[in-house]
Amino acid sequence: MTATLDNDSHLVERLLKSSAKQSYDPDVDIDWSAPAVPGLWFMQPERMSLYGTALWDQLTPEQQIELSKHEIASIASVGLWFEIVLMQLLLKDVYRNDPTSARTHYELTEIADECRHSTMFGRAIGHFGAPAYGPRPAARKIGNVVPNLLRGASAYAATLIGEEPVDRWQRDMMHDDRIQPVVRMVSRIHVVEEARHVSFARDELEKSLQGISKRALKWHQYVVSQAAFVTMRSLVHPDVYKSVGIDPMVGRRAALGNPNYQASIAWMGEKMMPYLAEQGLIPTSGRIRETWHDSFLLPR
Ligand SMILES: [Fe+2]
Ligand SMILES: [Fe+2]
Repeated sequence: MTATLDNDSHLVERLLKSSAKQSYDPDVDIDWSAPAVPGLWFMQPERMSLYGTALWDQLTPEQQIELSKHEIASIASVGLWFEIVLMQLLLKDVYRNDPTSARTHYELTEIADECRHSTMFGRAIGHFGAPAYGPRPAARKIGNVVPNLLRGASAYAATLIGEEPVDRWQRDMMHDDRIQPVVRMVSRIHVVEEARHVSFARDELEKSLQGISKRALKWHQYVVSQAAFVTMRSLVHPDVYKSVGIDPMVGRRAALGNPNYQASIAWMGEKMMPYLAEQGLIPTSGRIRETWHDSFLLPR
């Protein structure tokens, strides 16, 4: 079938070509038979939620590594949850659109990427021998309704919130030789394929915002700030702290009050935040901006 040539075609044609040239099959491109390497971290310790706190200092080096395993399992399972929501959003768009257009072909390609990623994250969590913590029940409920609620600018900005901060974290991790080889390979695969998703979502966001009314913009600003807050608060499930004998609520309180953790989240959003502000999605004052501060993506 020949793709319809329209204004969107340049970017999506490029993304389709790049997908055909460089995509991975995690089932064969990752050595799942390799056991974890003793003494290596599962994520960067300084990006962990308790790093720098008194609770962290009380843990033995073995416990700190064990916690890194549970913390990455939590982040990966929230990433997987996010991808399942995103696949539904994309499928709804595909359902409405022309199956001969290159844009639709790219959306289907992105769904296929996310499908492999979700398998890869699920497999990685099982490989670590940690639970798939996932988001807490309230966030799960929100995830259930999002595919029916979000369209246009909010949908694409929420996509960027799910993709860009995690991308920043994984780009850093894939080069870090203190970290388990399986984690580094998962990160590398994800980074390569997500770069295309980010280009697509940014382009769609910019198109959705063209000529938008002030009222509609306000609505998108609100929804996107809530998406940012829920996503960032979901990354580390409080139950991860149980793996090293810390009460979940005690660990949670310490993490949320930890300036190092707050700075890590801000670091994850460093590339995305100026972009979203430039698109007019982050008001310069008021309640919505406060929500961004509360998410830690926007330092006070
Ligand atoms: Fe993904
Ligand atoms: Fe993605």
